[in-house]
Order: sequence, then structure tokens, then C-alpha cells
Amino acid sequence: MQRLKGKVAVVTGAGRNIGRAEAMLLAEQGAKVVVNDLGGGPYGTEGADASLAEAVAQEIRDAGGEAIGQCSSVATREGGEAAVQAAIDTYGRIDILVNNAGIVRPSRIDRMTDQDWNLCMDVSLTSSFYTCRAAAAHMIAQRSGAIVNTGSPSGFGHWGMANYSAAKEGLLGFTRTIARDLGEFGIRANLIRPVSHLTGTHTPEIDETIAESARLGIPLLWNKPMAQPRMTALPAHVAALVVWLCTDAASHVSGRDFYIQGDEVALIPEPEAIRTSIHPDGWTLDAFDEQANRDYLFGSIQNRFVRTA
Ligand SMILES: NC(=O)c1ccc[n+]([C@@H]2O[C@H](COP(=O)([O-])OP(=O)(O)OC[C@H]3O[C@@H](n4cnc5c(N)ncnc54)[C@H](O)[C@@H]3O)[C@@H](O)[C@H]2O)c1
Repeated sequence: MQRLKGKVAVVTGAGRNIGRAEAMLLAEQGAKVVVNDLGGGPYGTEGADASLAEAVAQEIRDAGGEAIGQCSSVATREGGEAAVQAAIDTYGRIDILVNNAGIVRPSRIDRMTDQDWNLCMDVSLTSSFYTCRAAAAHMIAQRSGAIVNTGSPSGFGHWGMANYSAAKEGLLGFTRTIARDLGEFGIRANLIRPVSHLTGTHTPEIDETIAESARLGIPLLWNKPMAQPRMTALPAHVAALVVWLCTDAASHVSGRDFYIQGDEVALIPEPEAIRTSIHPDGWTLDAFDEQANRDYLFGSIQNRFVRTA
């Protein structure tokens, strides 16, 4: 049984790894797919190669599916709109948008260049604005649609990844909000935080950020010890979650945040106030001193980033 027969999907950055697996599975499930990929690399400065997207589209067609390759950079307004327009021009509609394109430019904050920041924002955050805005216009007219944006566990906090964390966590707020904007039109939007080994964004610099975190004894990503993975996390595992979120079986799921790594998937809760204190006359410095002595609001919250020596 094909779960997405007749649907039209756009996947950005689908020329390799996670995006490629998403495009392949969408096609296997009957969707007609626009395989978008600039044919660049993980740093955002490697140029372009149109053959990458076309090769994946050809692979899909060879397997009996329907797909076209499309090679614009979604980091520009024209490029993001062109990826969506390719679906309209070729297949007449867009039902599914998977924003997967992303890059990494790790650096400790004092050494991070404007280019590190701006490129990361353009590709890993603003691209989803361009594609979602363009797709939303069509989805609203159709009164249906499913969007999946690609965040990262790095958004929880990751040494040396201030630009990427900001972009990816920005995408979470963006996703929660467009889920509200578009819900009345039957359109859903969710965010995933994938982990996949052996892909492009796992650059040598990422290994350095992991080594630095270990050297400093600070938690990597979540504020909990990292479990040893029980298996190699593959793009296909990520694709299964993403494609499932685009099916009718997930029609009740929107504005949510999921983590997936190999055999483990988790629903990440919305932030909540876990300790609340009311000061009847409003808060002052003295009132905060008093509060600190009570060992409630500020009690036992020192973490391992704080230098104590
Ligand atoms: N691999 C992981 O463990 C991991 C972890 C967390 C988040 N992610 C996120 O998952 C997504 C995919 O990761 P991956 O490791 O498969 O990446 P990858 O680098 O292997 O592939 C990404 C693809 O996006 C394309 N791309 C880059 N800039 C583009 C642009 N401006 N327009 C169109 N295409 C562009 C690249 O050419 C590349 O083919 C990214 O958003 C990444 O940040 C990955």
C-alpha cells in the first residue's frame, strides 16, 4: 500500500544523505517529488553542482517513481520560491514540504565570523521561511498540506555551534508559530531533530566540538549523559519519521518537536515554567537576594558550564 499516492512533495537538500533518503521514501510511498539540491557541501561555500539533484531524481525514476531534479539555492528568496514553483509547474500542486537543507560552520563564539553566522542563518533558517511562505500560499488554497522542518539536537546547546544552535532553535519557534498560522487551513508543521552518522554535516570540525565538550566535562547537546548509541543511526531512520509525519496517520500531529537517532525517537516537550515565584510589589534586586536565600528559584541550578575553581 502506498500511503502518499497522488501527493506532490518538495525536499530541499535532497541530493545526498538525509534529504536523499526522505525523497526516496516519499517517492516509494507514491509521492511525486521535487528533489532540490544546490549540489554544494556542508560549509555553504563549496559552489554548486546541478548533477546531484538530478542523479537522485533519476534514481527515483529508475525505481518506477516520479521525480524531477531542481538545483536552486534555497538560501535565497528566488531559489526557495523556485523549488516550490517547480512542483507547481511540473505537477500542479504541493502537498508536502520537507525543509532539510542545512550547513554547519562551527567556531567558538569569539572566533565566529560574520560569514559563519550569516551563511548558517541563510541556509539553516531563512531558507525555510522562503519555501514555507511560497508553499503556504498554495496549501491554503488547497486547504491541506504537511511541512516538516529540520532542527537539530545542537539547538539544546552545543559548544562551538552558536550560529547553528540559533538557526535550528529559531526554526523550532518558527515551526510552532506556522502550525498556529496554518492549522485552520488543514496544514500541519512539525520539526525533527535528527541524528545520522556518516553524513555530510558530520564534519571534522563537529568532532572537534565533541572533543572540546569532553575536555571541559560539559554535557554535549542535552543536559544529560549521552547514551552510547545501540546502532548506527542512518538517514533511512530519519526518513521514516519524516514521511510518517506527512501521512494522514499523523493528521493530529502539528507544532511538535521530535528527536530521532537510529532506534530511538522522542517527543520533546514544550518549555514550561518549573519554578514560579510571585513578588507582590514586583521584583527588585533586594527581592532577588531574598529569593536566592530561600533556595527555591535559584536553588540547585548550577550546571557544569559554570567555572567554580
Ligand atoms: N547528520 C546529522 O547527524 C544531523 C544532525 C542534526 C541535524 N541535521 C540536519 O539534517 C539536515 C541534513 O543533514 P545531512 O547531514 O544529511 O547534510 P548533508 O550535508 O549530508 O546534505 C545536505 C544537502 O543540502 C544541500 N544544500 C546545502 N545548502 C543548500 C542550499 N542553499 N540549497 C539547496 N541545497 C543545499 C547540500 O548540497 C547537501 O547535498 C541538515 O539540515 C542538518 O543540519 C543533521
